[in-house]
Amino acid sequence: MMDRESRSNRYYRNAVERHWDPGEIDLEADVENLLEYIEGATSYDRGDWDRTLNGIAKFGAGEDAVTEDLAPLATVLEDIDDQLFLTTQLYEEAKHADFFDRYWREVIWTVEDELGWERSNPRADRWFNDPYVELFDRNRAAQYRLLEEDTPENRAKAYCHYHLTVEGILAQTGYYGMQTSYGGEFEDLPHLPGLVEGFTKIRSDEGRHVGFGMNQLKKLVRDGVDPQLVEETVSELLPLVQGITEDERFQPDDADDQPGLDDGELAAYAVEKHTDRMQQITDATADVPDVDELVQLDGDD
Ligand SMILES: [Fe+2]
Ligand SMILES: [Fe+2]
Repeated sequence: MMDRESRSNRYYRNAVERHWDPGEIDLEADVENLLEYIEGATSYDRGDWDRTLNGIAKFGAGEDAVTEDLAPLATVLEDIDDQLFLTTQLYEEAKHADFFDRYWREVIWTVEDELGWERSNPRADRWFNDPYVELFDRNRAAQYRLLEEDTPENRAKAYCHYHLTVEGILAQTGYYGMQTSYGGEFEDLPHLPGLVEGFTKIRSDEGRHVGFGMNQLKKLVRDGVDPQLVEETVSELLPLVQGITEDERFQPDDADDQPGLDDGELAAYAVEKHTDRMQQITDATADVPDVDELVQLDGDD
């Protein structure tokens, strides 16, 4: 029988109840706003366009990668409630990848066509710097290792790479940054309501994914995995995350005047989130937040 009170089962139900369709998000205003913004700007060039595309390309390829790399975990989990949850996560990663593919086709290419620009390739090597390639390679290796050697330590490392770092730090921080940047509050950036709506849905899903990983880690630590292993695995990956969010090739020359959140604010947000989570995992008396809190985004303290 399923354990309806288990966190995995409740997270599974929460995912089902909060279902959304990436094909239903309205993207027309994004095309209009981008064209209006680009055509109305006094100086706007391909360098500015690349800065917008950079984030979208990195997230899109990242969602593809995590969709491809989650299956090993599904094959080793033996608990039915964990399995239920994981099927929702696999499905949601696929939807996230779907959203980005659609955004590129329907927004980016439409804008480029309208402006008479050459269509950009969302998978061109130039979007992905060395830290990016390295982080996703390491994540893949950590997941596939489970197929060779399924130990509690290797499971902990798999969750540390995937759930705590790629989702918990890189994705949640990046989505927060992009959502804020294109949410309409900065005059020097276009308002992209479709992108922001997609990010909002994705972030909410990611909150649940991260919560699942934290719970799994908490159980592993309770059953004897050294918490130091968790801390060290994430610490080793942090410079890679920083190398991705601060890809200097896409910073403007006058980086100080860059509209949107600055790197310092983003880094502070990431570190604060991570510190809270580590405490919730390693402190037996501390609880992982409830699922309603994990998927809720208002306030975003
Ligand atoms: Fe995702
Ligand atoms: Fe995820």
